[in-house]
Amino acid sequence: MNIVLLGPPGAGKGTQARVLVEKRGMLQLSTGDMLRAARHSGSAMGKKVADVMDRGELVTDEIVIGLIDEALDGAAAQGGVIFDGFPRTLPQADALAALLRKKGTDLHFAIELRVDDEALIDRITGRFTCGNCGEVYHDRTRPTKAEGVCDICGSTDLRRRADDTEESLRQRLWEYYKKTAPLSGYYHALGKLKVVDGLAPMAEVEAALAAILDVD
Ligand code: AP5
Repeated sequence: MNIVLLGPPGAGKGTQARVLVEKRGMLQLSTGDMLRAARHSGSAMGKKVADVMDRGELVTDEIVIGLIDEALDGAAAQGGVIFDGFPRTLPQADALAALLRKKGTDLHFAIELRVDDEALIDRITGRFTCGNCGEVYHDRTRPTKAEGVCDICGSTDLRRRADDTEESLRQRLWEYYKKTAPLSGYYHALGKLKVVDGLAPMAEVEAALAAILDVD
């Protein structure tokens, strides 16, 4: 089963995608993670996108569609793919449909994690992740058990994202409402949209996603 996780920055897409990977053997394709990896590696593309990402703007459709195309080519058959943070524009949504068609498969659901903007500032400014395994934490709602040490892999490389500031979040939200929110209508028209309350506790969001995926 292939799904898209939709929702503004901080809605919980990455957090829930990791649960689906662990519990269902699905493959998480996060364009945000791919772009951050390109930055980290110092590649020409990574340098090109760095400032755009820090400002909270969207990278070009051409770059992210290329990344997904490449990742899908290398993807082994698993329990399905979770598209996390992709598509974010209507052209990206059309491109995803074409790429899946080319691979002889389809998108089953686009699941929107619906949240209030008010909650996002706290979620974004309190977030940190493990630089080694990618586990996502929060200062208040999901701290590590031992301070400064990842619960999952024991790494002490805990990082905060350069774009997790209030200023960048404002721009990211603006981009979301202008360019990504119309995708809810797009997937609704295709009969694929499901909406989940992203403000609920993490375990409840997880259960709501499971109820959607288990129906098929
Ligand atoms: P990307 O990395 O995709 O960031 P984003 O969409 O802004 O989403 P986030 O990762 O910030 O949030 P999330 O929903 O995953 O929340 P999380 O689970 O971490 O993109 C970054 C940038 O890359 C973009 O701005 C753009 O420049 C570029 N880019 C990426 N894809 C692109 C594309 N397709 N096209 C063009 N440009 C692209 O949770 C957040 C926090 O909340 C965590 O601390 C977590 O512990 C906590 N939390 C999660 N769920 C709950 C809950 N239910 N209750 C309480 N706390 C919770």
